[in-house]
Amino acid sequence: MTRAAITAVGRYLPPDRLTNKDLESMVDTTDEWIRTRTGIQERRILRDRGKASAFMGTEAGRQALKKRDMDPADLDVIIVATVTPDMFFPSNACQVQAALGATRAWGFDLSAACSGFVFGLCTAASLIESGRYRSVLLIGSDKMSSITDYTDRNTCVLFGDAAAAVLLEPDDSGHGLLDHVLRCDGEGWEALCMLGGGSLRPPSHETLAKKMHFLHQDGRTVYRFAVSAFADVAEEVMMRNGLTSEDVRYFVPHQANRRIIDAAAQRMGLGADQVMVNIHRYGNTTNATIPLCLCDWESELQKGDNIVLAAFGGGYTWGAGYLKWAYDTPAVRPQGAKPALEQKAARLAVNTI
Ligand code: ACO
Repeated sequence: MTRAAITAVGRYLPPDRLTNKDLESMVDTTDEWIRTRTGIQERRILRDRGKASAFMGTEAGRQALKKRDMDPADLDVIIVATVTPDMFFPSNACQVQAALGATRAWGFDLSAACSGFVFGLCTAASLIESGRYRSVLLIGSDKMSSITDYTDRNTCVLFGDAAAAVLLEPDDSGHGLLDHVLRCDGEGWEALCMLGGGSLRPPSHETLAKKMHFLHQDGRTVYRFAVSAFADVAEEVMMRNGLTSEDVRYFVPHQANRRIIDAAAQRMGLGADQVMVNIHRYGNTTNATIPLCLCDWESELQKGDNIVLAAFGGGYTWGAGYLKWAYDTPAVRPQGAKPALEQKAARLAVNTI
C-alpha cells in the first residue's frame, strides 16, 4: 500500500526572544514559577506588525521545499494548520501558495487548535494515499502573541510564535504515516477558547472591553483532560501496532507543559532519550510544536525509526499518529537539479485520472 512519508522539514523562528525574566517585569510571576510549572524558559515573538502567521508559514514551507530541492510549481496541495490565520479569509494556504509561487497547488486552512498538525498530517496522508496527489506541504503556523493577553499571567507565560512545515510524498517501501487515532469532544469547548471576533460575537466595543479577542483558558481543567487523553491515544496507537516502549525511537508530544509530557512518557514507559522536548526554548507554539521538534531532531532521525506523535488542544481535540521515518539525512537532490522527469510524468498521469 502507498503511504505518505515525510521527505523534508523546515521551520521559521522569529528572532526576538521573550524570556521568563522579561515576563517578570510585565506580570506578577517569577522565572522559578514558570520553569517549575511549565518547563518554559523563553519563547519567540514575531514583533514585526506587518508580518504574521502566513509569512512564518511561507518561510517554513520554503525551507522544506529547498531541502528537497523541489520546485514550488511541482507542489500539489498546501495545508496550513493554524488558530491565528492572518485573516478569516482568504486562507493562509492561499497566501502561502502565492508567496511560494506554487502555481499548480490548491490548499486550505485547518482549525483544530493545538491538534491541528496531527489532524493535518492524517488529512494530508489520506490525500496522498488516494493516489490523486503526490506532494502535500503541511504547515503549522501560529502567531500566538496576537491573541495573548500580556496582562494575564495565567496564559501569557505559556505561548510563543513559530512555524514549521513538512513535505509529504508517496512511499511504497513501508515508511510514512502507518496509523492514527483522532478524537474530539465539543463538550469541553469552554475550557480553552477565544470567545470574540467570530460570527457569534463579531468584534465590537463590548468584545474588546471584555477582552474576548484574547485566548481564554481554564488551565487546571485543560491540564486534567490533557494528562489522560494525550497518553490514551498514544498508547492506543502503540497497542494497535504491537509497539512496545522499546520499539519507539521517539515520542513527539505537543509541547504545552513539561509536566504533561513527562506524565505521558512515564505512562508509556519511555526514557528521557526517547522523548522530544524543546518547550524550554519555544513555549507552546500551538500548531508548530510537533514539526518544530522534527526539525530540531532531524539530524538524529534514521530511516525506519518508529515515531509516535501525539497532540491535544482546544475543542477538545486530541490525536496520535504512528510514523515510520523515511530518510537518514535530509533527502536533498543535487543542487539545482529538477525533480526527475519520470516523477513529473507520474504526477501528470495521476492528476488526469
Ligand atoms: N506566575 C505565578 N503564579 C501563577 C501564574 C504565573 N504565571 N499563573 C498562575 N499562577 C497562580 C494561579 O493564580 C494560582 O494561584 P491561586 O492558587 O492563588 O489561585 C496558582 O498559581 C496555581 O494555579 P494553577 O492553575 O493551579 O497552576 P498549575 O500548576 O495548574 O499550572 C498551568 C497552570 C501551567 C496553566 C497548567 O494548568 C497547564 O499547563 N494547563 C494546561 C495548559 C495546556 O496544556 N493548554 C493546552 C493549550 S493547547 C491549545 O489548544 C492552544
